[in-house]
Amino acid sequence: MNTAPLQGIKVVDLTEVQSGPSCTQLLAWLGAEVIKIERPGKGDATRKELQFNPDLPSYYFLQLNSDKKSISLDCKTPDGKQILTDLIKEADIFVENLHPGAADKLGFSWEAVHAINPKCIYGTIKGFPLSSKYKDLKAYEPIAQVTAAAASTTGWYEGEYNIPTQSGAALGDSNTGMHLTIGLLAALMQREKTGEGCYVYQSMHNACLNLCRIKTRDQLTLDKIGYLTQFPQYPNGKFNGTVPRSGNIEGGGVLGWTYKCKGWETDDNAYVYVILQRDAKSFELACNALGFQDWLTNPDFNTADARDRHKQEIYARIQQFCIDKTKYEVTDLLSKAGMPVGPVISTKELMADESLYDGNTLVKINQGGEIGEFVTVGVPFTMSNYQPTYGPCPSLGGNTAEILSSLGYSEAQQAEFAKNGTTEPLPKAPEAPAAPAK
Ligand SMILES: CC(C)(COP(=O)(O)OP(=O)(O)OC[C@H]1O[C@@H](n2cnc3c(N)ncnc32)[C@H](O)[C@@H]1OP(=O)(O)O)[C@@H](O)C(=O)NCCC(=O)NCCS
Repeated sequence: MNTAPLQGIKVVDLTEVQSGPSCTQLLAWLGAEVIKIERPGKGDATRKELQFNPDLPSYYFLQLNSDKKSISLDCKTPDGKQILTDLIKEADIFVENLHPGAADKLGFSWEAVHAINPKCIYGTIKGFPLSSKYKDLKAYEPIAQVTAAAASTTGWYEGEYNIPTQSGAALGDSNTGMHLTIGLLAALMQREKTGEGCYVYQSMHNACLNLCRIKTRDQLTLDKIGYLTQFPQYPNGKFNGTVPRSGNIEGGGVLGWTYKCKGWETDDNAYVYVILQRDAKSFELACNALGFQDWLTNPDFNTADARDRHKQEIYARIQQFCIDKTKYEVTDLLSKAGMPVGPVISTKELMADESLYDGNTLVKINQGGEIGEFVTVGVPFTMSNYQPTYGPCPSLGGNTAEILSSLGYSEAQQAEFAKNGTTEPLPKAPEAPAAPAK
């Protein structure tokens, strides 16, 4: 039995870069047939972005487009519009992430697609919600992070590095793709009842903001009492009315920080994250593990509220504990005692960890040819009765003939499409001869 959840679902994918492709990548790995529409001769912009070899597609493209089919199609020519219409007639989902207004201009707005195929779900990604004054702006990752209060609350909180800072995680890009995936899966379920596809609008802003909800919690608290006990600024620093950058605090009520470990002078990632929980039993375990039994009877430390007021002394003492041990030794010692703790892991270490090649966490895809094998992040959850498989990425337009034939276009018609610029780039006009020197 084929247990792929989206087996039989056809997706017409007019997305580029990271946000849209990360969504359709997941749909493909869950079993959907994804037909990626790419501009003739050009393709997805990431094919040629950050390449390791100018003749080969970049890892950026490879990591987001495996197991899809690629049709080379100019949707602006009359034939291109007809072919896209044909594809939509057979589609369960149409997804696009062009700049605001571009899909409408092409003639493939939600209303137009709904008229072509009322069962087709329409997924769209833009930078901002439709109600926003920024709704017409083009958007990339940092734009989402700076406008959704992610950057203003991330980074160091004092000194020359007290500047709005981006997260290394793609809160605006892949995170938006994951949010749209949720919307599309909900729309598929809804279609079972209504018999009709709906419009799913996902902004990068809202996807990012959805992960910043605890910052709005902090603002509400700050507005009420004027301080936030979990921040390093408490009790002696200033808050200035807005949620400050949080350095390495845990974010909730527990007391967490990043500590230097043995080797930090030469290794940028010789650090460990250690958390002191709020409840008395966990605190006693921690004190015993750290050898800080005197804290158990000291009123500056033996309640969670007192520890919030004395967090700088706590940071300093745990730092002393960590400095002569490796991040793995600290992790081992403290985790055995039941404390939440984890080593800071570099990308190099992460990708070298064989235990993560479990079929989903990190996966190796064989692209063949000069590229050979590459590593990517697989489906981030596991299902008890479905194991995705991971295949190569298509070449630009690699499935054009197959797709056009399946739509009923003859070889002669396909040759005409190639000649008139619908599926192949038109030859460049010869350059005008240089004007004779005067
Ligand atoms: C990413 C973004 C900033 C790029 O903007 P851009 O450089 O203008 O590129 P776009 O892909 O949107 O569109 C460029 C043109 O190519 C056209 N185009 C794209 N694919 C096409 C195709 N297969 N056939 C014909 N035309 C095509 C578009 O219709 C558009 O034409 P227009 O300028 O005449 O309207 C913009 O698409 C955007 O803001 N998208 C929404 C948010 C998003 O997903 N951002 C990316 C996060 S990773």
